[in-house]
Amino acid sequence: MSKAKYTVTAALPYANGPLHLGHVAGVYLPSDIFVRFLRMNHHDVAFICGSDEHGAAITLRAKKEGTTPQEIVDKYNAIIGKAFQDFDISFDIFHRTSAEIHHETAQEFFKVLDEKGHFTKETSQQYFDEEFEQFLADRYITGTCPNCGNENAYGDQCENCGSALSPTDLKNPKSTLSGKTPIMKETSHWYLPMERHEDWLKDWIQQGTLDGVQQHDPKKWRNQVVGQCMSWIDNGLRPRAMTRDLDWGVKVPVTGGDGKVLYVWLDAPIGYISATKQWAADNNKNWEDYWTGDRKLIHFIGKDNIVFHAIIFPILLKAHEGLVLPDNVPAYEFLNLEGDKFSTSRNWAVWLHEYIEAYPEKIDELKYVLTAIAPETKDSEFTWKEYQTRVNSELADILGNFVNRALVLTNKYYDGAVPEQGNLTEEDQKILDEVAAIPQRISKLVYDYKLREAQAEAMNLARLGNKYLADTEPWKLVKSEENADRVQTIMNIALQITANLSIVLKPFLPATASKLSEFLNFDENDWTQAGSPNLLPTGHSTNKPSILFQKIEDEMVEKEVEKLNAANASEAAANFPPQKEETSFDDFTKLDIRLGKILEAEKVKKADKLLKLLVDTGIDKRTIVSGIAQHYSPKEVVGKTVTVLMNLAPRKIRGVESQGMILMAEDAEGNLSFVSPEKDFAQGGEVR
Ligand code: MF3
Ligand code: ZN
Repeated sequence: MSKAKYTVTAALPYANGPLHLGHVAGVYLPSDIFVRFLRMNHHDVAFICGSDEHGAAITLRAKKEGTTPQEIVDKYNAIIGKAFQDFDISFDIFHRTSAEIHHETAQEFFKVLDEKGHFTKETSQQYFDEEFEQFLADRYITGTCPNCGNENAYGDQCENCGSALSPTDLKNPKSTLSGKTPIMKETSHWYLPMERHEDWLKDWIQQGTLDGVQQHDPKKWRNQVVGQCMSWIDNGLRPRAMTRDLDWGVKVPVTGGDGKVLYVWLDAPIGYISATKQWAADNNKNWEDYWTGDRKLIHFIGKDNIVFHAIIFPILLKAHEGLVLPDNVPAYEFLNLEGDKFSTSRNWAVWLHEYIEAYPEKIDELKYVLTAIAPETKDSEFTWKEYQTRVNSELADILGNFVNRALVLTNKYYDGAVPEQGNLTEEDQKILDEVAAIPQRISKLVYDYKLREAQAEAMNLARLGNKYLADTEPWKLVKSEENADRVQTIMNIALQITANLSIVLKPFLPATASKLSEFLNFDENDWTQAGSPNLLPTGHSTNKPSILFQKIEDEMVEKEVEKLNAANASEAAANFPPQKEETSFDDFTKLDIRLGKILEAEKVKKADKLLKLLVDTGIDKRTIVSGIAQHYSPKEVVGKTVTVLMNLAPRKIRGVESQGMILMAEDAEGNLSFVSPEKDFAQGGEVR
């Protein structure tokens, strides 16, 4: 059987900011490991990435930095591209969607689908920001997600629960340009009637079949991917607009398209194809070979990209005809950082380029830890403490220690020459059986996209070697001449394990594997040799090793944690008002604050911010007018226990007398929240 051929893509990062460890752990590192493994197994493979340079993510960033979209994408494409290079992510090409070849490819793709009748043109009312005179799609509009309640969902997508949205799905929509509630205005767009594709999508996702022909193994698709797609399909697919009223992006190439561009989620995945074209042109290849026929197309992505890669792009590929559909869409969950979500705006992040700059000699250390904690099936967390523990007690104490012993002793006893294997004991044979089994187990895990376990298996080989030397103690045996043969056998086996390690570690820790191969004068690039007990012939010469991993000191951990906290504190200080003037305890006790329960609520006419509430305070029922209508609906506040300032002088608001005030907390973005007891307390309780 000939080897499967692969086209592997890694989600195109938006060129609107640098990469943080969450991106690396959940897309770029796993795809790199997978591809390195495939190459070592002699698969024909293309590894494609580039930056995603259109869409509101870019234009909004430009607005924020007070510059042009072009400058933004140039700046971040360079930062991201360099970080990938320094981190040794082995893309065949890192392209960009602002390239001309991409614009041509995306336009051509659009025209083909349009001519084949896959779009409908519809006129509808859409949100429009009057102040900025702009239609509001995608990230230009935020509001509450109808599915999970996330208050910062975008007009096309909720990044919290991964669902794909339309602006009209959002509750409390707000323009991100003016911050105001938008109006409705008429416009026309090209739509993809996705509901036409429900039937084949169901079979293809659940059974892996297309027109009755098996395309992929659905058991290899992650539950989360199948689950998200099926819940989307079961809710009923709807037409989705494929164009936007914007001037930054790929121009709509057909009549009536003036002033409009392609939806970024239409143009970006086509970026995989245009990048392949560029790479093929640069390397005397045909791009079609990588997108047609007998090819496995694999998309590595984060979970917020699932529907775009497992539903929308497949619809487009199939509609275009002749192109392969993805064989798998390994999607990753999210990585958190020290107990909190990564947040670019709060600078709660470890930036890849900053890590590389600070610790250029610790690339594999970071790769190892990120793979060990990769959010493959559920969200996971990076902490500097765990980074330290894993580097010190796994990389240094097990892998580093074993390799160092094996090579130092070989140098000492045999001047670096591999000694004869000689007669094997039962114990030796058992070890070599394990050595033979481990690469096979790793292979199976990698082909199943279980890279976290695969790396753990590779480390098991180092554990095995470390334990073998600790059990056999050649440094004691060597003291007596009669053990000379036995010591030779032990050292030979230790060296064979080291050579095997250089192969099986290569996809995960390429720099470390290269060092091992230099110590051993051995070519570590052929996976098919892994498992052999005879990689190094008798007499083969090895070199003196250097230390593989330096221990991580407490100071580094402290420094990094402090850096995070400082960023957090300065951000908080910039967003919140300074502390008020000192006050006396007596003044404080003049305030009568109690818990109250909201019994009734209604909107105040002609006042879009106000709710009129009837509140049970434990001693009476009173009316309070509160400016929370843009944050809470009347229905959701009834029954809530809140904090009431009782003895505030009554005052008339819009004709209604308000007898007191509900206390609210405000966050940095101006969202309001009730201040409610953390335990289940009844109304009437005093707050002191
Ligand atoms: N830029 C998108 C994101 O960061 C990913 C785009 S993937 C591709 O979420 F399909 F457009 F390529
Ligand atoms: Zn949501």
